[in-house]
Amino acid sequence: MSLTVRAPAKINLHLGVGAPREDGFHPLTSVYQAVGVYDDLTVTGSAGWSVDLTVADWMDRSHVPLDGDNIVDRAAALLAAHHGLTVTGDVHIDKAIPVAGGMAGGSADAAAALVALDRLWGAHTSDDDLLSLAAELGSDVPFALVGGTALGTGRGELVEPVTDNGTWWWVLVPSTTGMSTPAVYRHFDELHPDAPAIPPMPEALLAALAAGDPHALAAALHNDLQAPALDLRPELGTLIDAGEAAGALRGVVTGSGPTCVFLCESADAARATAADLRASYDVVLVSTGAVAGAHTVTYV
Ligand code: C5P
Repeated sequence: MSLTVRAPAKINLHLGVGAPREDGFHPLTSVYQAVGVYDDLTVTGSAGWSVDLTVADWMDRSHVPLDGDNIVDRAAALLAAHHGLTVTGDVHIDKAIPVAGGMAGGSADAAAALVALDRLWGAHTSDDDLLSLAAELGSDVPFALVGGTALGTGRGELVEPVTDNGTWWWVLVPSTTGMSTPAVYRHFDELHPDAPAIPPMPEALLAALAAGDPHALAAALHNDLQAPALDLRPELGTLIDAGEAAGALRGVVTGSGPTCVFLCESADAARATAADLRASYDVVLVSTGAVAGAHTVTYV
């Protein structure tokens, strides 16, 4: 038996960050959107356990840790322990989500592994249990299961869908060099010693999503990690200016960066903005949101 589960990248339409909690994590008020850039994870029944990888032609395969400590190994171990099972299967990851790019690519792989291995092992894990296991694996993993457009609270792991009546066109510009999420959070702490315990709700952004209005959404996009990310990587400011000059309604850093995302008014506008940016940037993707969370695409 073999099955392929596809899981989407996420972008943050809003990322509000509070003061670090006792456990070191930051309280977040996040609005996630799943966009049409995917990792596909194929599992095949086997007596042993293996994980291998192919990557999109513009990516560097060596940036993905495959030394037994990949998040997919951890997802498998956690699911197996939950059911008292042994970890088995041959896993192949076909990666198109930028590595260490602020788009939750590792989280997508973890979510896909939970869904795929649950089916391969006939484990019938409940949705609630799958979401709890996902939260143990990483703050963004539950969202990769749920997909769509969702509010994230807690450390980002508590997700609930929000009303989204738009089809949103995005230009995504990853960087070939990733950024360390903990380093960006640490710099946020230096810049904001007075951050709130709970970051406020992004009311204008939620209204823009419900209205399906790209101009209102563009005006409301916000990321508290953008200033620290730009401090650490000033050339991202140049990229954001270039995307906006090329016709995007607005550009922002997503997550802890370095990927920048540009909201465009239409499909044509997104293609034109992307074509313009390709003169200066190697990898420029056009994508829509919102799309589904981790889901099975083939089963044989
Ligand atoms: O949960 P995840 O493993 O994705 O988090 C990676 C790192 O990002 C954490 O170790 C922490 O440094 C930082 N982080 C944080 N607050 C969050 C989420 C992540 O400080 N809410």
